[in-house]
Amino acid sequence: MKSGFMFAAVVPAFFAITAQAGEYDALKISAGEDFFDKECHRCHSVDADRASYGPLLNGVVGRKAGSFEGYPYSEVLQNAGFVWTEGAIRAWMEDNDGLVPGTKMRHVGVSDPTVQDFIVSYLASLTE
Ligand code: HEC
Repeated sequence: MKSGFMFAAVVPAFFAITAQAGEYDALKISAGEDFFDKECHRCHSVDADRASYGPLLNGVVGRKAGSFEGYPYSEVLQNAGFVWTEGAIRAWMEDNDGLVPGTKMRHVGVSDPTVQDFIVSYLASLTE
C-alpha cells in the first residue's frame, strides 16, 4: 500500500521537475541567441551555407580550434592545438587575446558569466 502511494506521488513530481529543467534550457538557448546576435553575429555566421568574416560556429563545441574546413585562420589559431570545450569558449569570450594572443579576432570581452553561459548554451544547441 505504502509503496503504491510513493510511486503515485514521486513519479509525477519527477516528471514535473524534468519538464521545468527543459524549459529553463530552452530559455537559456533563446537568451543566448539574442546575446549572440548582439555580440558575435556581425562576424560569425551560424548558417552552414554562408561564409562570414569569422569562421562558422555551428558545431564549434567539441571542434578542434582553427579547424573549420576552408576558413583562412591565423597561424596562431590554426596551431593552437586544443579543442573548444564550453569552458574554453567562455574563456575566449572573456578575453580572447589573453587565451590565444595574436589571432585575427578583435578583442571581444564578454565578462558576465551569465551571458557567457547563455551564449555557450546557444552554441551547444547548434548542430552542423
Ligand atoms: C569583430 C569580429 C568578431 C566578433 C565580434 C566576434 N568574433 Fe569570433 N572570430 C573572429 C575571427 C576573425 C576569428 C578567426 C580568428 C583567427 O583565425 O585568428 C574568430 C574566431 C572565433 C572562434 C574560434 C573558432 C574556430 O573554429 O577555432 C570562436 C569560438 C569565436 N570566434 C567565438 C566568438 C563569439 C562567441 C563571439 C561573441 C561573443 C565572437 N566570436 C565575436 C571575429 C569575430
